[in-house]
Amino acid sequence: MYRERELRGSTTATRRPPLRRGRVSQRLPVPDDIPKPPYVGSRELPEISSEHQIHDAEGIARMRAACVLAARVVDYAGTLVRPSVTTNEIDKAVHQMIIDAGAYPSPLGYGGFPKSVCTSVNECMCHGIPDSRQLQDGDIINIDVTVYLNGYHGDTSKTFFCGDVSESIKRLVKVTEECLHYGIAVCRDGALYRKIGKRISEHAEKFGYGVVDRFVGHGIGTVFHSEPLIFHHRNDKSGSMVEGQTFTIEPILTLGSTECVTWEDNWTTLTADGSPAAQFEHTILITKTGAEILTTY
Ligand code: MF3
Ligand code: CO
Ligand code: CO
Repeated sequence: MYRERELRGSTTATRRPPLRRGRVSQRLPVPDDIPKPPYVGSRELPEISSEHQIHDAEGIARMRAACVLAARVVDYAGTLVRPSVTTNEIDKAVHQMIIDAGAYPSPLGYGGFPKSVCTSVNECMCHGIPDSRQLQDGDIINIDVTVYLNGYHGDTSKTFFCGDVSESIKRLVKVTEECLHYGIAVCRDGALYRKIGKRISEHAEKFGYGVVDRFVGHGIGTVFHSEPLIFHHRNDKSGSMVEGQTFTIEPILTLGSTECVTWEDNWTTLTADGSPAAQFEHTILITKTGAEILTTY
């Protein structure tokens, strides 16, 4: 059980009611003329491809376009966050913006995922399914947008505040975003993948936060999820980054336990102790001297 005094250093924290599932509405249609990724139509979860995704100039241009769209969509989705909005309303708006841009919402039909975006509230650490539940004052919500445009996926997520959020939770969210940026800062051609998890853990540990090891960053490009898997916790993975390669970094930090439980829907994943979790994600391109954040504009 998650206890108030585990909100380290806080006096203003308020306990949120536990997350409950709402109703998931019917699947939204996608126009026939929008190209769909190959997994659409199969209920099976695609295997993580072992191929790293390294691009030529044309591939980089396409990655850029997909990633800029994903970045615009996540920011737009963030403007919709307020008490009483449902995550289903956010999903609908995101779905419409993506298809209006001629792109496909990558989560829709990925391993049977029924919606176009992941909406993860409070103790939901990731893969929340949009439903009829209304956001409440004091909630936090991670909105994770992936779009498939011109044959390439762009993947990004941010955690937003709904109304007045307690200081301790605000700090968790701020530090999680800092961890993402510290992780990106160690990236460059030739750098070891394991430096990312080391740097992220160092920063999180300063605040006593947990780094979830169950969910990882991933190669991305024409395939949604591929090698390299990017660990956000301390690890001894071998291998180093290559110029022209694209992958995501997407740390999840928690105020309490990093253990997780997944609902029977096979997606919604919560912290085992009900403590709040925050996540941020960017898709990056490895260059000779560093990394470029592609999911920005
Ligand atoms: N966007 C998520 C990621 O960061 C993956 C979501 S898969 C879904 O990798 F099916 F849940 F949408
Ligand atoms: Co994502
Ligand atoms: Co991702």
